Order: sequence, then structure tokens, then C-alpha cells
Amino acid sequence: MEFSIKSGSPEKQRSACVVVGVFEPRKLSLAAEIIDTNAKGYLSDIIRRGDMEGKAGSSLLLHNVPGILADRVLLIGLGKEKDFREKEYREAIALSVRTLNETGAFEATLYLTELLVKKRDVRWRIRQATLSALDTLYRFDQLKSKKDDVRRPLRKLTFCVERRNELDPAEQAVAQGLAMADGVTLTKNLGNLPGNVCTPTHLAETAVELGKEYNLKVEVLERSDMEQLGMGSLLSVARGSHQPPKFIVMQHMLGKTEDKPIVLVGKGITFDTGGISIKPAGEMDEMKFDMCGAATVFGLMKFAAQCKLPINLVGIVPSTENMPGGAATKPGDVVTSMSGQTIEILNTDAEGRLILCDALTYAERFDPDCVIDIATLTGACVVALGQVASGLMANDDALARDLLDAGNVAWDRAWQLPLWDDYQDLLKSNFADMANIGGRWGGTITAACFLSRYAKKYRWAHLDIAGTAWRSGDKKGATGRPVPLLGHYLLERAGLL
Ligand code: BES
Ligand code: MN
Ligand code: ZN
Repeated sequence: MEFSIKSGSPEKQRSACVVVGVFEPRKLSLAAEIIDTNAKGYLSDIIRRGDMEGKAGSSLLLHNVPGILADRVLLIGLGKEKDFREKEYREAIALSVRTLNETGAFEATLYLTELLVKKRDVRWRIRQATLSALDTLYRFDQLKSKKDDVRRPLRKLTFCVERRNELDPAEQAVAQGLAMADGVTLTKNLGNLPGNVCTPTHLAETAVELGKEYNLKVEVLERSDMEQLGMGSLLSVARGSHQPPKFIVMQHMLGKTEDKPIVLVGKGITFDTGGISIKPAGEMDEMKFDMCGAATVFGLMKFAAQCKLPINLVGIVPSTENMPGGAATKPGDVVTSMSGQTIEILNTDAEGRLILCDALTYAERFDPDCVIDIATLTGACVVALGQVASGLMANDDALARDLLDAGNVAWDRAWQLPLWDDYQDLLKSNFADMANIGGRWGGTITAACFLSRYAKKYRWAHLDIAGTAWRSGDKKGATGRPVPLLGHYLLERAGLL
């Protein structure tokens, strides 16, 4: 898919399709009005007849509109103008792209990118349009023997801006949006791959390839390396599986040498059966998505490398399956983490924190500016926040604030939960320094409390993406979240937002 930026009048576009908006009730947007004037009231006639009310989600494709150079005009309903905000803007772009893909037009010129969205500038509109368009066109058919080909797929989109002085910022925004969408696509692809394909070894191979393509330094630690480092907690999860665990480290070091790196840590459980504390059968297939935190780290490394962001960034992915084998960890087993702290494993299904804690200890060697872990960590987070917001917990208020802000700008939002000491007591164990579960209530917070005990040496934030990383039901599939949130955070840190 090719993207370009243009400024100019809609009646003059020699395009297969010009896309303009209509607000409810029956109010033409500026670009639509210009077309209407040139077409001597053709659009207002149609609207007067009641064929286009402007309701959000509605669309109308017109051919042979007089007085203009384009072959088609696509009207997109935008809903009430006073309610037109971020969500409505993104949905209007998505609807345009979905509709265009079903027409014969393989190219189109969008005027929706000129619409005003309160508090958002042209760069935001263009970045979001790029992300939303590519999100809409994404398909995962790698594993289907017959691909359902679109007859004449959309090949080129032109986004219009009102003023010529907006061309440069818009060009920059489209490049950023494209790189971020590329990251999102990688994250989705890895997430959607089944557990028999996307093993820890597959993730390690992906890292090595990414390293070659983008000049990242990549290291893969094997089981024996992890043993030497004393990663007893991570290794306890790998015991039940025939797949060898991998500990992947990727480095993108384009910042100043003296800049401390941002470290990303992604949960890479390529399949979570629960282990001996085995999960019920219903929807267990979705536990192939338990490596979406890891996939997010991959997507972001690719994004940072493609944009050549002038920052130091380290991506760490601890990866293993969680299986119930003969050698698997049993409830009540006590293991020693790399930090030296001992853990009583009361539930082998609380395995994410067991692999993350050793990765958090390993992160210390980079003397990080901050560490952000990303994990499909708790079902409780889905209960608390649903599939709208990721859960955010942090030991540093400024870092939490920055991530919440980045999520708002990216429209990939997070919501903070408290990480108060009062919750720490719930992790008490009679036999070890701590238990790996905290009882029935506040499960998202007690999981974060567990991690916080391994993140004392730096500024740290934790994103629980159990509700946001994938969709269930007939639209089952990875979402690529929170790549946009963290991508915007990295842009901000690079001084590019
Ligand atoms: N990967 C799961 C969390 C999860 C479950 C995400 C369902 C999305 C949907 C995690 O490893 C897990 O099993 N967590 C347990 C923790 C519990 C045993 C304390 C959970 O949430 O039930
Ligand atoms: Mn689990
Ligand atoms: Zn899990």
C-alpha cells in the first residue's frame, strides 16, 4: 500500500475516487460542499431525497458526479458534528478504506483528513489515518491454502491537507504512521501464529532475522546460559515443556552513548496451558496469544529501527511454553529467582510473573533510564478494564503519567491501578520469601506487586494487556496493541512528537 499527501481542491482531483464526509443530519463537510457547488447541487439533491443522513457508519458511493474530474465520490457518514472526536474520526477512516476495498477503485483521495478533531493537529490526523487504514486492510491468511483475494485491491491512498504549510508535517506523520503500522503488523502476525509454529525457537529466529535486516544487536541465551545466570524462576516454568526456552535480547543503540537506555520486557509464553494447575478446555486456544507482550517488543524494535529513532532501546523477551509434563513444576514447589529471592509456586498458571521477574533482574545490567514490561498477565485485568484499556502500574509517577499521555495521543489507552504497599501483604508465604499468587481479589495488582519486588533498582512500569492484545469471538485475532501507545512514547522520548 502506497500513501501520499496532497493539498488541493476536491473537484480538481483526477482520482478513481474522492472521499468526503457528511455530518448528521444532512450537513456537508467543507470538501463535500465544494464538490456540490461544482456539481450544481448534485450532492445536496441526493441528501434532500433522504439517501444520506450522515449517520456514523453509513456510506454512499456515487458515479459520474458532474463538474469534477474524479470517477467516483464516496460519501461517508460522520455522525453529529459536535460528537465528532477521535473514535469517530478513526472509524470514518476505517469505513472509507473498507468500502473502497470493495469498489473497483484501486486508488483514492481522502478529504476526511482535513476534518477538525478537537485538540488534535494535522500530524495526529495523518498518523491515525495511516494506522487506521492499515489496521483495516490487515489479513492473516498465511496458513490458508486458498487466499480470499480482493478483486481489485486498494493500492494507493492520498490524504489531503487544507494548507500547503501542512504538507511537510503531514509527510513526516505518514512516515511515522507507516513505520508504526509495520510494527503493529509484525506484532499481529506473531500473535496470530499458532503455538505449534510460534515456539520460543521461532521467536528467537525472528529476532535474529530482525537484527540482520535492521542492524540490531541480537543475543539469544539458551537454557544452559539461564542456568548459569541463576534464572531458577524462569526455568521452573520451562520444565514441563519439550520446547527449549529462549531468552532474547535486542539492542537498538542510536542515542548518545551517555543516554541510559529504555528497556522493554515482553512476556513470551508461546502457549499457556496453565501447567499442572491446568486451565479448563474452553477457549484454551486463545492462550497462544500469551506471547503478545513479546510480540509488542518485536514490533517496537522494528518501529524504532525503521524510524532510526535517536534513542537507546533494549528489548528483552523471556520465552517458554507453560506445559504440564512429567518434569513440570508442582504446586508448592519453591524456586530461587536470579535476584536470590525465593518463590513458593502455589499456582503454576501464574507463570508470567515467574518468567518476567528474572528478566527484570537481568535488565539491571543495562543501567536503564526506565524499564517497561508488557504482559498478558491476568484474567483479572479483563474483568476490571474489559477490552478497552490496558492496565498500567508503576513505581514512578512521572513515568506512569507519560505512558498514560502517550496512550491518549495514540488512542491506545491505558488506565492506572494502584500499587500501594497494602497489597504486598497478600503475597506472604509460609515457606519462601513470597508466594506467586495473592488470593482471589485484586489479582492484577498483586501480580504487579510481585513484579515490583524485582524492579527496585530503576523506574519501572507494567502494562497488563490481557484484555487489549487480542479479540475473541468471530473477530478473533491479535490487535497489535499496545504498539501504538509505546510507539508514541518512544517518539516523544526521541523528541519527534
Ligand atoms: N496468561 C494468563 C492470563 C490471561 C488469562 C490472560 C485469560 C487473558 C485471558 C496468565 O498466565 C494466567 O493464567 N493468570 C492467572 C493468574 C492466577 C492463577 C493468579 C489468571 O489470571 O487466572
Ligand atoms: Mn497462566
Ligand atoms: Zn500466561
